[in-house]
Amino acid sequence: MTCMGESLRTIAFKVRTASCGGTACVNSFGDEQLAVDLLANKLLFEALQYSHSCKYACSEEVPELQDMGGPVEGGFSVAFDPLDGSSIVDTNFTVGTIFGVWPGDKLTGVTGAQQVASAMGIFGPRTTYVLALKDVPGTHEFLLLDEGKWQHVKDTTSIGEGKMFSPGNLRATSDNPEYAKLIDYYVREKYTLRYTGGMVPDVNQIIVKEKGIFTNVASPSAKAKLRLLFEVAPLGFLIEKAGGYSSDGKQSVLDKVINNLDDRTQVAYGSKNEIIRFEETLYGSSRLKAAQPVGAAA
Ligand code: F6P
Ligand code: MG
Repeated sequence: MTCMGESLRTIAFKVRTASCGGTACVNSFGDEQLAVDLLANKLLFEALQYSHSCKYACSEEVPELQDMGGPVEGGFSVAFDPLDGSSIVDTNFTVGTIFGVWPGDKLTGVTGAQQVASAMGIFGPRTTYVLALKDVPGTHEFLLLDEGKWQHVKDTTSIGEGKMFSPGNLRATSDNPEYAKLIDYYVREKYTLRYTGGMVPDVNQIIVKEKGIFTNVASPSAKAKLRLLFEVAPLGFLIEKAGGYSSDGKQSVLDKVINNLDDRTQVAYGSKNEIIRFEETLYGSSRLKAAQPVGAAA
């Protein structure tokens, strides 16, 4: 986690100083001419090699297992999205790195619940490192100070109720009537819209504001595009460690087995009641709603 933090510091600087053309944002320091997402990818692989504790790593950019030289026994394997939202770097929106850490040498045949840590590096007006560790309660936010140190500034242990929504893949409402119904509910109930189209800031706000709902729902014509291994499971771990809930419509995203590195899924993150509403609206019932005891008043 320390090595990854080091590279996040560098990525933050490179993102801040990237110049963006029509198709890519490029860094031109010395002979570096890599687009920022490729540069982030390279820095993260290097960090994992230097850590001496990573066995395999793979990224959205290089979706095959790469041997990082660390041990299997007592070592870890890491999956990462080097720069989520790279298409909104030019608009100067917040972007981020996402990663999940699994014990040993497997990144398939595992579930998100088996992660021992996950994190995001967030490159906005401020640079923050938001992380969760299996054996430490809560999800923790660290702020990058001018002198280069990370300062612990917040821990989140519960996600409460509050009318804030982040509706991803909204085009799916055209042929998914249940998703359209859910969106109608948020509008009718006067929820506040907070959506940038960058999954990192859109999910992070739930952890920071301790309320809200993020949805990215599929339909026949607008398929699921978020990747379970690189994005959905690591963010699910952060949200659930923060006291929130996640769902693919029927179960926690942390209970889904990752069969292929490229598996994709629809997803929602939020407070318990928001996830109950999400599951009930999409599929008619929610596993989170305790069965009413027999004879209980309706
Ligand atoms: O990684 C894909 C991504 O850019 C996410 O960061 C974001 O949440 C999603 O796509 C946005 O999708 P849409 O534009 O369909 O809402
Ligand atoms: Mg992404």
